Amino acid sequence: MSTTSQARRIGVPEIRARKGAEPIVSLTAYTAPMARMLDPHVDFLLVGDSLGMVVYGFDSTLPVTLDMMIAHGAAVVRGSEYACIVVDMPFSSYEASPEQAYHSAARVLAETGCAAVKLEGGVSMSETIAFLTARGIPVLAHIGLTPQSVNAFGGFRVQGRGEEHAAAVRADAQAVEKAGAFGIVIEGVPEPLARTITEETTIPTIGIGASPACDGQVLVTEDMIGMFGSFTPKFAKRYAELGETLGDVAATYATEVRDRSFPGPEHCFDAKPAPKKDS
Ligand code: KIV
Repeated sequence: MSTTSQARRIGVPEIRARKGAEPIVSLTAYTAPMARMLDPHVDFLLVGDSLGMVVYGFDSTLPVTLDMMIAHGAAVVRGSEYACIVVDMPFSSYEASPEQAYHSAARVLAETGCAAVKLEGGVSMSETIAFLTARGIPVLAHIGLTPQSVNAFGGFRVQGRGEEHAAAVRADAQAVEKAGAFGIVIEGVPEPLARTITEETTIPTIGIGASPACDGQVLVTEDMIGMFGSFTPKFAKRYAELGETLGDVAATYATEVRDRSFPGPEHCFDAKPAPKKDS
């Protein structure tokens, strides 16, 4: 990445400063071409470990490795110029100790060129978040429905329903703010809880299935464009049906190959030698 393009990028302090101001726009990206298309429209691109399900076809995000996140993170950095890039810390790369988290996060930053990491957990991860931020690693926290805890939750379920559970999610938000996170992704919680957390914290909240009360929104891009299976979570608005379009295109291509109408003359090379460049 050139120094010029780095200078033009949105940085973590600018995202942090958007608390209570113009809503922060974020989408996931896993590849350079997708990053290139989304880059002009978003404030930050999230290289989410959702890539395990969306790109690799796993049932959960648990099998995703640090090397996978680094490869995709570097591709997204190469494909973008403006957006702040945040890369997810995958399951088992940070939970054992603050030191383990530091070594993993340092690799992510150094090997991808991204600006920040995201990790799941509230109170339980606050010591780790403090350790990382004290060492110059910006952290976006992720609370509520944290997909890496799918086994503990017994599925991808809305979190924070009922007073006791809501209080626990609020405590998570307060803990990560105190630990130095520059923002909080809040996933899959009821609107009143997201609103309360947004009002109670001084760092931006980024909602996914957490209502418009948040300071910004993030979606998995493939959910938004109909490119990830037939099931769409309730919170993910389907803005396009590109999966259907791709199916139609593949069917037309197959027909044309079979009836030999593709390739046409315009797609074929003639036998004349190519003109010499220098003459
Ligand atoms: O992995 C991911 O894409 C995420 C978003 C759903 C917030 O964590």
